[in-house]
Amino acid sequence: MNKLHKMASSCSYILFIFNFLLFPISISSSNGDFHNELLESITVSRMEKTTHLHFYFQDVVSGNNPTAVKIIGDGYGFGTTFMMDDVLTQGPERDSKVIGRAQGMYSSAAQNDIAFLMIVTFVFTEGLYNGSSVSMLGRNHVVDDEREMPIVGGSGVFRFARGYALAHTVWFDPKTRDASVEYNVSVVHF
Ligand SMILES: *[C@@H]1O[C@H](CO)[C@@H](O)[C@H](O)[C@H]1NC(C)=O
Ligand SMILES: *[C@@H]1O[C@H](CO)[C@@H](O)[C@H](O)[C@H]1NC(C)=O
Repeated sequence: MNKLHKMASSCSYILFIFNFLLFPISISSSNGDFHNELLESITVSRMEKTTHLHFYFQDVVSGNNPTAVKIIGDGYGFGTTFMMDDVLTQGPERDSKVIGRAQGMYSSAAQNDIAFLMIVTFVFTEGLYNGSSVSMLGRNHVVDDEREMPIVGGSGVFRFARGYALAHTVWFDPKTRDASVEYNVSVVHF
């Protein structure tokens, strides 16, 4: 590799890094020059905050008004998928105050284990967070006392969110398979 080539490739590497870092900023700022965009990205990153959310997820699969319904699969075997619009409550009881909904699906994703792939939007309906959401995508090994799943994004107040959710089953009725699950969600966002 000659000198010039080396220089060109390290230059394009640096440009690539900057492009990559600045991409979310540069699409929103009009006419800003490169220097301003860099400053802007440093300023914005200082305004990040962390929010902790605590709520209970009410999974109702039994009765006349289930909030989670099976859309494919046999029993709870591999591939079984439920679509849900479960309520999120402030307390563990099912009739506790509703603060949002868990909309999405969960699928049995382990062949020799009980683990679900969770694809969920937690959308909130109360106070400051009304209309804002966080999205969770992860593995839910339901037999563990505590499960951790990544928060991969958010909207509204939670734009650019990233973080994690800790889940713990408070009660599970083996007959109806209804459950109440406690969630602690920690998110960093702007
Ligand atoms: C949440 O927002 C919706 C839509 O803007 C509104 O209808 C509702 O009253 C709000 N709820 C609360 C508790 O502020
Ligand atoms: C959630 O946080 C509360 C308060 O710190 C704690 O008592 C509870 O055990 C936590 N639950 C989970 C599932 O992390």
